[in-house]
Amino acid sequence: MKIVTVVGARPQFIKAAAVSRKLREEHQEVMIHTGQHYDPNMSEIFFEELKIPHPDINLGVGSGSHAKQTAEMLVGVESILLKENPDYLMVYGDTNSTLAGALAASKLHIPVIHVEAGLRSYNMLMPEEQNRVLTDHISSLLLCPTNQAVDNLEKEGIIKGVHNIGDVMCDAVLFYSGLMEQFDRTYYFDRVKSLYEETDQVQAWYLATIHRAENTDDAGKIERILNAFEAMDEKVIFPVHPRTRHFIDGLYQEHQYKNILFIEPVGYLDMLYFAKNAKKVVTDSGGLQKEAYILDTPCVTVRDQTEWVETLKGGFNVLTRPDTEEILDKVNHVNPDQSMRSMYYGEGDAAEKLCRLLRG
Ligand code: UD1
Ligand code: UDP
Repeated sequence: MKIVTVVGARPQFIKAAAVSRKLREEHQEVMIHTGQHYDPNMSEIFFEELKIPHPDINLGVGSGSHAKQTAEMLVGVESILLKENPDYLMVYGDTNSTLAGALAASKLHIPVIHVEAGLRSYNMLMPEEQNRVLTDHISSLLLCPTNQAVDNLEKEGIIKGVHNIGDVMCDAVLFYSGLMEQFDRTYYFDRVKSLYEETDQVQAWYLATIHRAENTDDAGKIERILNAFEAMDEKVIFPVHPRTRHFIDGLYQEHQYKNILFIEPVGYLDMLYFAKNAKKVVTDSGGLQKEAYILDTPCVTVRDQTEWVETLKGGFNVLTRPDTEEILDKVNHVNPDQSMRSMYYGEGDAAEKLCRLLRG
């Protein structure tokens, strides 16, 4: 079978890394990169490090308003689909690249495979919620990561073509953690040590990422979040997403934060090392919440809702408002109950299950 896959944003490269390796053993895959993420450490680094086949086409759409970005992707994907005439179009997750890919195919009556279908925050103000609801409603094969996602779809009347295959990101965490562990420990030791300016002593750290529009696009919120990081009892390693960068630069002039190690976005293996060995994770990332769960690092999520509700059972992950005192309180008190741990996200064989379904 011929499958055109559309990716465009950082987490989609990691998901594609898990799936493409298996998919290409049996099928022809044509990969379109929309160009939504384009900085080398938001895109190229993953193709190099994770040995993902390089995209066959890069539409080079770049940044812009939601309408401009999505519209340019739609036009670009449509022209490739007309040329390639695939059996399926495959998309991941909930970004503008996801919706554009799915919509272009659906209008051409090319069946859509949605990987990570059925997730809901029930907050329609989030662009991601709009993207995932619309994509689910025009998909033919809805590959859910959890039973909860299957239930969510059923509530919207979507039953046909729905399968729980487990989470492809769980495949990625398990596979690449193995690779990460094979590296010489001094590489990571030196990597962390290089972040500390004043001491050779590598101590414990927290890992933080913040990039949701709802947290970054409000100067007051991001300042309250950074004030919490500044007051934490260990250094905070903070790989800064480009969306967040310019808000932080302004605040840095004012506060000269001492406890926060601001760094450029890092590759996936570094990220797995930082997350696995962190005292705790503080984030608003969907992917990182789940990685923290799988790697058994307690997590505090700076959001009002999460799509990954399983992580909340047993207190492995707790939600907080972007309020300095509340973040500090949650970080100090997050205390997972290990007896509640379960394999909600599968056993690392989601890509294999996806291929089995395509075999029919
Ligand atoms: C997008 C997804 C979000 C996902 C995130 C993963 C949508 C609506 N949002 O958010 O669901 O969690 O990717 O990281 O699709 N920028 C750069 N260099 C880059 C990419 C972005 O400088 O390589 C800057 C630009 O100023 C851009 C801003 O970041 O305007 C936001 O980028 P965009 O792709 O629109 O959304 P994300 O916040 O990355
Ligand atoms: N990630 C990474 N380097 C970084 C920050 C994040 O490799 O500097 C990984 C992270 O481990 C996870 C994925 O990127 O696998 C999550 O992407 P992001 O937070 O951008 O998007 P979301 O999951 O929220 O959509």
